[in-house]
Amino acid sequence: MGKIETINIGIVGHIDHGKTTLLQKLSGKWASLHSEELKRGITIKLGYADIIIYKDKNGKYNTKEGEPIRHVSFVDAPGHEMLMATMLSGAALIDGAVLVVAANEGIMPQTREHLLALQAKKIKGLIVVQNKIDLVDAEKARKNYNDIKELLKGRYDNAPIIPVSAQQGVNIEEILKAIVELPIPERNEKGSPIFVIARSFDINRPGTSPVNLHGAILGGTLKQGKLAVGDEIEIKPGRLIKEANKYYYKTLKTRIIKLFIGSKEMQEITPGGSMSIETGLDMVLGKADALAGCIASKPGILPEPASSIKIKYNLFPEVFGLAGHAKVEPIKLSETLMLSINTSVTVGIVKLIKKDEAELFLRAPVVPSKGDNMGIARNIGSHWRLIGYGEII
Ligand code: GTP
Ligand code: MG
Repeated sequence: MGKIETINIGIVGHIDHGKTTLLQKLSGKWASLHSEELKRGITIKLGYADIIIYKDKNGKYNTKEGEPIRHVSFVDAPGHEMLMATMLSGAALIDGAVLVVAANEGIMPQTREHLLALQAKKIKGLIVVQNKIDLVDAEKARKNYNDIKELLKGRYDNAPIIPVSAQQGVNIEEILKAIVELPIPERNEKGSPIFVIARSFDINRPGTSPVNLHGAILGGTLKQGKLAVGDEIEIKPGRLIKEANKYYYKTLKTRIIKLFIGSKEMQEITPGGSMSIETGLDMVLGKADALAGCIASKPGILPEPASSIKIKYNLFPEVFGLAGHAKVEPIKLSETLMLSINTSVTVGIVKLIKKDEAELFLRAPVVPSKGDNMGIARNIGSHWRLIGYGEII
């Protein structure tokens, strides 16, 4: 078996439109595992599942047998309006996206907001799934199709729109086919490694004997470069430390003990796929996503974390995440904005505005690389709403 290419796909869209159900149909795995999610029936944290798409003897795509064509790492985003920051940090992991729109409800605020977030994060490949087709008649399906076309206009004109019933498993093969046709972005294996961390955890069961303990695990994706077992790494901004009522971040240094793509153990990783790194760090340091939002690289490569950044920004004409139409007001001095940069989400106060540039003082530092893109959100009616996008200058 030759090496097949890997693509990272986000599943996004309005709450309850069927993202997790669709991922379950695609992967055979229910990505919502947290007890709170099961109780409330909504996705709260990012979900993950990996599949291989095969082509069978009849030229049909499936996830079980035939010639392996593509490896896909899915990231399932929450649709709840209060969880947009989580969706944005998931968007930092992906090469392309599936936007799920339930045909019976149609375009809803987070349908638009997530689509705009993908644009803000410069995600090129998009597939639209028109879901819950079992609940609508032909006329309603056509109207919904036209609404989607209109929404995509000037943004993702060539995105396929696939009618699906995720619940009943209708037209799933069409999605596999569309995923196979998505272009894989150019992978840069030569540059310095940039591993963006979306989650971190401790995999040890209580009572494990000390010799069998595993170090903290970092989950995320390698944006560029290569990492191998045994490499020394540095994690920035690192660990939050409180000392004499002062908080600061301390860079963590460790070594790579094991590497995984999905659940497959690797000796080396290159860009593409959801990955995890078992580190030599004390397992406690990884607990409860403590290192989510950080970046890992080889020593001496990452810039120093900064609490003040300069950005160039563009505002949307309206607040897409709200029902109805509301104009986006210009950015004001001293206002608080939320920025999502890579997998980190941070709040900052506007210190300076000059035309389409601004300087912000951040509550939590970020690792600033020139050109890093970001989604910009403002608190409107006590929720963070995406109002534009920008990049670090
Ligand atoms: P959030 O993660 O909270 O944003 O929701 P979600 O988009 O992941 O939706 P989820 O998959 O949890 O599905 C919501 C509800 O819609 C569940 O009751 C599903 O059974 C139902 N559902 C999903 N797909 C379909 C479909 O194709 N047809 C019908 N009739 N119901 C569906
Ligand atoms: Mg869900």
